[in-house]
Amino acid sequence: MHNNQSSVVPGLNLTSTSIVDQLISLRARRNNYIYTSGIGAHKLHIEAASWNSARHNCQDEGGHLAIINSMEEAQVIRKLVDTADIETIWIGAHDLFNEDEFVTIEDESIYKAGYSMWERGEPNNAGSNEHCLAVKKDGKFDDRDCKQAFSYVCEIRYPQVYV
Ligand code: BGC
Repeated sequence: MHNNQSSVVPGLNLTSTSIVDQLISLRARRNNYIYTSGIGAHKLHIEAASWNSARHNCQDEGGHLAIINSMEEAQVIRKLVDTADIETIWIGAHDLFNEDEFVTIEDESIYKAGYSMWERGEPNNAGSNEHCLAVKKDGKFDDRDCKQAFSYVCEIRYPQVYV
């Protein structure tokens, strides 16, 4: 029996002031997420899925379909998508409740969430059937048919601590 608590969880240093940061990092690494300190952990799923399947798949691995809260987070996601050379991904927002009222999967307006950069001419609700939010390679938004299969990004969010 060791008195050294840091051996309880390999890689966890309990003497550090940023324990929450480390715990998130550990959980993220376990699930092959890419962790960016202060922003969150993200994982690109290259295999294409409908928006709702993507939403479920993220939840099944302990995350959620990504919500973009800042330009910095948009950049993290854009880099992931760009590196994998993918054209379009799903993120966690939609206007399924009310046309043109885009909300995150936590029911917050995307305009309040912190990042909302639409592609020129979007959202256009093409075919009156585009209610899920996709992000293009250039980091801009496009509303797409939720039944279409795209790659997607899951997130384990960095906890927002207010002091
Ligand atoms: C349009 C998008 C639309 C998509 C549907 C694109 O050419 O620019 O607005 O969502 O086609 O397939």
